[in-house]
Amino acid sequence: MDAAPMAAPLLVLCVSALWENCVSARLNQRPIIGVLAHESNDVIPFGKSYIPASYVKILESAGARVAPISMKLTEAEYTELLHSINGVLFPGGVASVLNSRYAEISAIIYNFTLKELIVLTSGENILTRTNTINLALPLNFTKAGLHSRTFKKFPKNLLQALQIRPLTGHYHYWGVSMKNFTNNKKLNNFYRILTTNMDNQRVEYVSTVEAIKYPIYAVQWHPERSPYEWNATLNIPHFSEAVKVAWYLADFFVNEARWNFNHFSNTTEEEKALIYNYTPMYTGNISRFEQVYLID
Ligand SMILES: *[C@@H]1O[C@H](CO)[C@@H](O)[C@H](O)[C@H]1NC(C)=O
Ligand SMILES: *[C@@H]1O[C@H](CO)[C@@H](O)[C@H](O)[C@H]1NC(C)=O
Ligand SMILES: *[C@@H]1O[C@H](CO)[C@@H](O)[C@H](O)[C@H]1NC(C)=O
Ligand SMILES: *[C@@H]1O[C@H](CO)[C@@H](O)[C@H](O)[C@H]1NC(C)=O
Ligand SMILES: *[C@@H]1O[C@H](CO)[C@@H](O)[C@H](O)[C@H]1NC(C)=O
Ligand SMILES: *[C@@H]1O[C@H](CO)[C@@H](O)[C@H](O)[C@H]1NC(C)=O
Repeated sequence: MDAAPMAAPLLVLCVSALWENCVSARLNQRPIIGVLAHESNDVIPFGKSYIPASYVKILESAGARVAPISMKLTEAEYTELLHSINGVLFPGGVASVLNSRYAEISAIIYNFTLKELIVLTSGENILTRTNTINLALPLNFTKAGLHSRTFKKFPKNLLQALQIRPLTGHYHYWGVSMKNFTNNKKLNNFYRILTTNMDNQRVEYVSTVEAIKYPIYAVQWHPERSPYEWNATLNIPHFSEAVKVAWYLADFFVNEARWNFNHFSNTTEEEKALIYNYTPMYTGNISRFEQVYLID
């Protein structure tokens, strides 16, 4: 009741040419994104879990702050944290998608947001071995992809460049083939396929999706590496356009989070949760990541 007289003039203003300003004024301009830590393994031989600093930097570049999501919280603690942040990023990695702590926590977070992982939606493991361990590729857009929420605000010339130049880095052993994806009713009803790629055995796999009715997005390529990772054994595209693609994607993602108004109960709690409590460590001489944050 109290809010009604306040809201009415705003609505009137928003009908005018100042629409974008009006919308911006009503968004959360202090978004915090949770980034899920990944189990340490031979990739990072320190600590129990880590977050590559490139994910933190790309989110910061688009105007978000990062809260690391530890692998050691209880379900109640995850729920509390999720009530305090505005988005979650799953870096992915080498952990099993079905049997690992990473998968378990992803399931908890995913459940919470619905009330990343394709396997969780399809209800079965439909992953295929793909031959795409170290490739820089253009993206093959579907019709829906060109009109998607994800790519809508990309500059036209950048969208064109994405379709013909190798601006995206692909470094995965597993993928979902177009055939398996479209044959799976649950996946098909949930996600819209935006881009695909061919592996070197000419199997077409899904490389970008967005959920049809939810703000859930997934890429099978690594935008964050273009500006921030330099290991020369990897085929990382460093073209100016590849760096721009990374930024536009991050801008889109962070802007989605700006529609969410979750917050910590006070600034003390907020400060305790942020990544600034951790110091990145140089790992460029032993791993594919220049810097990582050790979390647990
Ligand atoms: C997700 O939610 C469903 C139904 O609410 C429940 O059966 C399932 O156990 C939950 N999974 C996790 C990992 O919390
Ligand atoms: C589809 O998924 C199954 C596993 O359910 C896998 O064995 C098969 O190779 C996949 N097919 C294609 C064409 O990717
Ligand atoms: C691009 O995708 C279309 C289907 O959307 C497919 O028919 C075509 O073979 C793909 N081309 C490449 C180069 O991946
Ligand atoms: C901040 O919130 C926490 C948890 O709700 C509470 O325990 C703490 O006393 C609060 N601190 C301040 C300074 O209000
Ligand atoms: C990697 O670099 C760190 C920091 O400069 C150094 O302490 C460490 O010995 C190096 N490790 C190797 C294997 O070169
Ligand atoms: C690059 O990454 C590989 C592992 O992927 C690692 O063995 C190597 O030490 C890294 N650094 C350099 C400078 O090659």
